[in-house]
Amino acid sequence: MATLTTGADILTDNYRFLQEYVRTHVGIVIEGDKHYLFESRLSPIATQLGLGSVNDLCAILRATKQSDVNRRVVEAMTTNETYFFRDPTHYDAIRNELLPQLKKERLDTKKMRFWSAASSTGQEAYSLAMLLLGQGLNDWNLQILGTDFSSQMVERAQSGTYQQIEVNRGLPASLLVKHFKREGVNWQLSEQVRRMVRFETIDLRKSMRAMGPFDLVFCRNVLIYFDAPTKKQIIEQIHGTLFRGGWLLLGGSETAFGYEQWFEKRAVGNAIVYVAR
Ligand SMILES: C[S@@+](CC[C@H](N)C(=O)[O-])C[C@H]1O[C@@H](n2cnc3c(N)ncnc32)[C@H](O)[C@@H]1O
Repeated sequence: MATLTTGADILTDNYRFLQEYVRTHVGIVIEGDKHYLFESRLSPIATQLGLGSVNDLCAILRATKQSDVNRRVVEAMTTNETYFFRDPTHYDAIRNELLPQLKKERLDTKKMRFWSAASSTGQEAYSLAMLLLGQGLNDWNLQILGTDFSSQMVERAQSGTYQQIEVNRGLPASLLVKHFKREGVNWQLSEQVRRMVRFETIDLRKSMRAMGPFDLVFCRNVLIYFDAPTKKQIIEQIHGTLFRGGWLLLGGSETAFGYEQWFEKRAVGNAIVYVAR
């Protein structure tokens, strides 16, 4: 028999069901008492569907296997926060160390490939694209792939349209003037920058074998949401997509500790980078 939780409307059985549902469908582990998180993210979906509560939404999820509702619920539980040039030390390290090195090593092909895994609304991938444009690489083949679980985030990234509040975060004024133009209340990224990045929907827990080889993979601020076995599986797979000597960049609170067989941890300026063995 389901019991009502104290201080929240989601039934205990439904709370456990949602925890397991999100863990199974996207890999995100939500531990402890996070009723508010499910309430705040899922109530709007319940309302849009004309349902009375998140409990009613759970009844639908339990009854249907694959549906638009399923996708919307899972995507709503992802945290999509991002901003331009997040952790600037990483971009300094790319500019000062990785690019000069690649310019020498890839002279034969004149090709560089980068991947922003968990790209959310695209700021990470586009920051890299803007950085590359100022590096004298005009006749090089520069490929940037941005991927995310959430199709909504991928669509937003593809649009290259940002709100004022988003361009206020991390983007230097000089780059705003150079690469964006005003469109109503929003800012539209130039075709030149948008053409450098391709976005796709990809679940990081799925096989990545066919994706590489990359010179650099950003996998920042996403591993924190997974359990240890999932993290390990993803780190190992990313290693398989990198050239030997290629870089993995993680978020500020993430480490590749315990994965020394695949990566060497190195300080580059003020950044920590993981170099593929
Ligand atoms: C906090 S954002 C990080 C954005 C960017 N990397 C940054 O550091 O600014 C985390 C992103 O990971 C995505 N994500 C969560 N689980 C995922 C999975 N299993 N596969 C791919 N992306 C996932 C979310 O949709 C979200 O957009």
